[in-house]
Amino acid sequence: MAVSANWYFMPPSRRIRSNSGVLVRAVGSAEPLKPGETVGHRGEWAINSWKKKTVLQIPQYPNRAEMEEVIKRIEGFPPLVFAGEARKLEERLAEAAVGRAFLLQGGDCAESFKEFGSDNIRDTFRVILQMSVVLMFGGQMPVIKVGRIAGQFAKPRSTTKETRDGVELPIYQGDNINGDAFDLKSRTPDPQRMIQAYSQSVSTMNLLRAFATGGYAAMQRVTQWNLGFAEHSVQGERYKELAQRVDEAVGFMEAAGLTVGHPIMASTDFWTSHECLLLPYEQALTRQDSTSGLFYGCSAHFLWIGERTRQLDGAHVEFLRGVANPLGIKVSDKMDPRELVKLCEILNPHNKPGRLTIITRMGAENMRVMLPRLIRAVRQAGLIVTWVSDPVHGNTMKAPSGLKTRSFDAIMAEIRAFFDVHEQEGSHPGGVHLEMTGQNVTECVGGSKAITYDDLSSRYHTNCDPRLNASQSLELAFLIAEKLRKRRIVFGLGSLLN
Ligand code: PEP
Ligand code: CO
Repeated sequence: MAVSANWYFMPPSRRIRSNSGVLVRAVGSAEPLKPGETVGHRGEWAINSWKKKTVLQIPQYPNRAEMEEVIKRIEGFPPLVFAGEARKLEERLAEAAVGRAFLLQGGDCAESFKEFGSDNIRDTFRVILQMSVVLMFGGQMPVIKVGRIAGQFAKPRSTTKETRDGVELPIYQGDNINGDAFDLKSRTPDPQRMIQAYSQSVSTMNLLRAFATGGYAAMQRVTQWNLGFAEHSVQGERYKELAQRVDEAVGFMEAAGLTVGHPIMASTDFWTSHECLLLPYEQALTRQDSTSGLFYGCSAHFLWIGERTRQLDGAHVEFLRGVANPLGIKVSDKMDPRELVKLCEILNPHNKPGRLTIITRMGAENMRVMLPRLIRAVRQAGLIVTWVSDPVHGNTMKAPSGLKTRSFDAIMAEIRAFFDVHEQEGSHPGGVHLEMTGQNVTECVGGSKAITYDDLSSRYHTNCDPRLNASQSLELAFLIAEKLRKRRIVFGLGSLLN
């Protein structure tokens, strides 16, 4: 899916200009851009310098004029997030890098236009809250909650075409690019989809902000977040027990005269993230922060670069090195340790803590071999990163029916390997990154409800990769919490509670 350097989207419909030219940031410079600073010399970053590089995974739109018109409109739209929020997340991720916080990042593989609705958003938010309570209880440390939500639409693909019954069509690339239905019209990239994705992201963000700060997430409601679980479900019961203990602790604090109505107890921080894939859209939502002078991708707080687009000299790395958001890098077993060090140096030349999160996804066996090498290389280079496990993308397989699935056991095995390796290397397991939903879907096999291959088709709703359902997500959280609890006891990490 490579696009030549002069693909039709050039020249940009609008550049951010100072009085004297295009604003740029020198390679490796952490200096804020100043008004009046000029212009794109070779090697300098500009908001559109990615276009000079090889661009992978971005569609060719048949109607160039329409595409440019859409991009112009999006450039005029309000940002979804603010720079100050992204900076706060970066500070929190810096805590996770040194084992003083834990990242919980999760959501759909791909958000969809069809599944959009407030119940789905609430259910995902709620299960993330529940998981965070379980993790906080086990780890006795803050949990940083980040959704793969409000913008997780574009999907990198391993092939460009799909063939069914002898008919070949372009592959589905995510609802902000083309449609899933197997016909030429829906598989043709349509720029108007970016407007719909923006609009869905805005509504989703609005609801998430209301849930996070409007009372829903108050610690006093910890027992009520369980309402989505069916009576007598094993994970629901486990959660209920734990929530009652939290509830008692809150009651105790209140009786002792501690102000449980404090905003810390009554609301929560919740951040958004997605893969930074569709660069024209991401560029159109990039803004220069008036406080710092730095550029921020304002489509989400946290942006990650996928396993398929992380080439050192590629367009995605070029774009992301110039935006100041905290960044994720997906890393499979194919990553060479020296290459990872180079990539970190390009994306974080000043070695700022919290700037880079390395999201490893390679399957348990590979992880036990490869992760130590990566950790040692990064440590030897003196780089500070936050290590996170994505235990799902290295474990995708085909069920006999042909449906894509994942085994809960393989996911647990990868999480165990992640914790074991960090223990062995004396480094910090900083968090997890999951494809999950608050719905009762049947997409991954296993878990305490023992979903079988035969069950998969009954509630298989994902737009792309299979997700953990609410019960499996909570079950995984209990496993991770146990790992965190052991670390706390063995290494004396976390507070003295429990
Ligand atoms: C994803 O997170 O949905 C994804 C495609 O990941 P990766 O780049 O790790 O394959
Ligand atoms: Co996925």
